[in-house]
Amino acid sequence: EPPASPTPPRGGVNGPGRAPVGARHLRTDRWWLAPTITVVVLTAFVVYATWRAFSNAHYYAAPYVSPFYSPCLAENCADMKAGPNWPLFGDWWTLSPALIFLALPLGFRLTCYYYRKAYYRAFWASPPACAVAEPHRAYTGETRFPLVLQNIHRYFFYPAVVIAVILTYDAVLGFRNADYEWGHMGLGTVIMVANIALVWAYTLSCHSCRHIMGGRLKSFSRHPVRYRLWTWTSRLNGRHMEYAWASLVSLAVADFYVYLLATGRITDPVLF
Ligand code: FES
Repeated sequence: EPPASPTPPRGGVNGPGRAPVGARHLRTDRWWLAPTITVVVLTAFVVYATWRAFSNAHYYAAPYVSPFYSPCLAENCADMKAGPNWPLFGDWWTLSPALIFLALPLGFRLTCYYYRKAYYRAFWASPPACAVAEPHRAYTGETRFPLVLQNIHRYFFYPAVVIAVILTYDAVLGFRNADYEWGHMGLGTVIMVANIALVWAYTLSCHSCRHIMGGRLKSFSRHPVRYRLWTWTSRLNGRHMEYAWASLVSLAVADFYVYLLATGRITDPVLF
């Protein structure tokens, strides 16, 4: 007769039924470095992005528009000749226009599989690293409210694609000069193009995108196009973490560059 299966352990790593290891962990490497960097960079980005999103100023320097403010959907938008500028929100909207659609890219990043791992480890120490015990007594993962709502991530993917298309349009408009004549390229153009390339890499490497391409298929050979797309997104998906960080930094850099131009602190070096 097979032995009765042991009672599942309860109460965290030091609860009854777990091996009595006295030490909190046995790792000797600098396992704390990654969560510390995550806290520092994410906190810096949140502080910077909050300041910029609420500032409602210096987000347009012809022909560049800050990615935080595009599309600009309020009547109180700056008089932008570059970038989508549709006054869908009338004069009753007096707050910063960046706040209108901020929830979409924010929700996309906040519920991203990679960022979840990063901030659960860094801010909640849940767990702080592999083989390092978490301080919490119980673990329910994402099975209960509110964390079960993280499943909404797949729906944020679609508006994220729309926003990436709009930022691509903005980047193309950056090939004009300040008088809106085509055939110009400044340092700002390079920054905008690099930013949108990283935003696309992050968006298309999303786990939801990979599932949309090749998920729920019983036979790849009967769906060669989806198989091919799934192969490409899978390759990108392997670097999702790198794209998550790189695009976060590039968004801040692109916005800050527009800020410096708009406040007159620098002028845009013309490359041709
Ligand atoms: Fe990271 Fe979808 S998993 S954006």
